[in-house]
Amino acid sequence: MVGSSARESEETGQGGKIDRPPTRRGKFITFEGIDGAGKSTHIDAAIDLLRSEGFKVVSTREPGGTPLGEKLRELVLHEPMHLETETLLMFAARREHIVCVIEPALLRGDWVVCDRFTDATYAYQGGGRGLDVAKIETLERWVHGNLQPDLTFLFDLSTTVAQWRIQTQGKDTDRFEQEKADFHARVREAYLSRASRFRRFCVLDADQTRDEIKKLIEESVLSYCSQ
Ligand code: TYD
Repeated sequence: MVGSSARESEETGQGGKIDRPPTRRGKFITFEGIDGAGKSTHIDAAIDLLRSEGFKVVSTREPGGTPLGEKLRELVLHEPMHLETETLLMFAARREHIVCVIEPALLRGDWVVCDRFTDATYAYQGGGRGLDVAKIETLERWVHGNLQPDLTFLFDLSTTVAQWRIQTQGKDTDRFEQEKADFHARVREAYLSRASRFRRFCVLDADQTRDEIKKLIEESVLSYCSQ
């Protein structure tokens, strides 16, 4: 009898409800790179691929991803401000994004594909602008604790090619795109340094044809899905 009541409580839980196995947590994929590296065109293809494999995917971006985050994006991309203000606004938008979008999606079992995340803060505010990395680490711990992307595609490209792409795109540029080549070179170095430290990075040579890059991303995503 003891055995049977133990089994019953396992099946029905204390409140009489059936305990369902927890939904498997979704995966968090990010895309990073210096401005002009061309990541945006590949994000949609990766999302289509994941959906065709049967995953529910939330597509989002930073800074932004929530109504408040998008307002903060407008400010940080276009208003001149002190470096620490810029960094705090990136993390303020990120906190909102994590609480309202990223964590709920991962908990539901959805996959989240995000155009930039905290690696961009290390690269741009840390590498590019020279903010003390210890400050970024403190904010990172405070704002997202143990949450890290599971897989990060880093589009790597020489700053000369990237600058040429930005200038010939004919789009309005933001405060970061307007920075000089040496700023972008420091951003690139900071990204590569992170990529050498963390196994989640997949570094792509962004100076290949669109089809070649697409194929490499497809292979990585499919191999990741099957793990
Ligand atoms: P980006 O995502 O490249 O958008 P678009 O493709 O429309 O130009 O632009 C966002 C900019 O914000 C980019 O230059 C990098 C910068 N950025 C930071 O400086 N720090 C951060 O933490 C994040 C997320 C972005």
